[in-house]
Amino acid sequence: VATAAAGQRPARIAVHLRGRGPLAVMIHGFPLDHRLWLDVLHGELAERRTLCAIDLRGHGHSPWAGDAVHTMERFADDVAAVIRALGDEPADVCGLSMGGYVAFALHERHRERVRSLVLTNTKASADSAAQRSGRVQMAETAAERGGRAVADAMLPKLLAAGSDPLHRATTRAMIEAQSPAAIVADLRGLAQRKDRRGELATCARPTMVIAGERDPISPPGEMQAIADAIPNARFEVIAGTAHLSPLENAAAWSSAVAKLWT
Ligand code: MLT
Repeated sequence: VATAAAGQRPARIAVHLRGRGPLAVMIHGFPLDHRLWLDVLHGELAERRTLCAIDLRGHGHSPWAGDAVHTMERFADDVAAVIRALGDEPADVCGLSMGGYVAFALHERHRERVRSLVLTNTKASADSAAQRSGRVQMAETAAERGGRAVADAMLPKLLAAGSDPLHRATTRAMIEAQSPAAIVADLRGLAQRKDRRGELATCARPTMVIAGERDPISPPGEMQAIADAIPNARFEVIAGTAHLSPLENAAAWSSAVAKLWT
């Protein structure tokens, strides 16, 4: 899908489709790509929806478009262009972590394209000053030492201790495959993102909030607060998982989403 919003660098966005029925877009986290969702794509949800795992610009098969900053709003405009290109009906939107921040921006800017929301392993708050300086350090690491060093730093937070070695290998391969320029642009965008807590009460879409029981980045208590603030939102915790619950336990995660996608 080619995107060319006014005032933005155009990008080519790769999408990975599986299943049948109404469209559901799946938005990965930082610094990942569509492979986050591979087991979900091959599970029960493909019987209910046409699952569309997006590679955000600069990730996976979507080339870096030269942006110095990947704002959540820019990513959201790309997702809106994908939804428009794939039939122009509103889509069920699923976002993990950074993908959740993109889902919030999509809901703000392109609400008519959102039929429902799955917010998984994500946060509604903006970065603290300490988190912003962590982003600067991580950007230096990415620029100087590449994806391998980023993977070393992030893996212990993304996956629960003792997780399946295959999941660990997949996640490492995904991180190491991303270009340092895109990782740096992501980090700048993450540091600039808006605090969404004040908007949660205005969310009028059916919403499922899903936490990983052992997620150190977006802990269940913080995710429960998101669910409590969104009218009629449901809340599920996936036992034994950390930050990448759809990859760590695709079957349990998919069963939780199936409660929303009836
Ligand atoms: C992600 O998984 O997308 C990141 O952990 C998000 C973040 O660092 O805020």
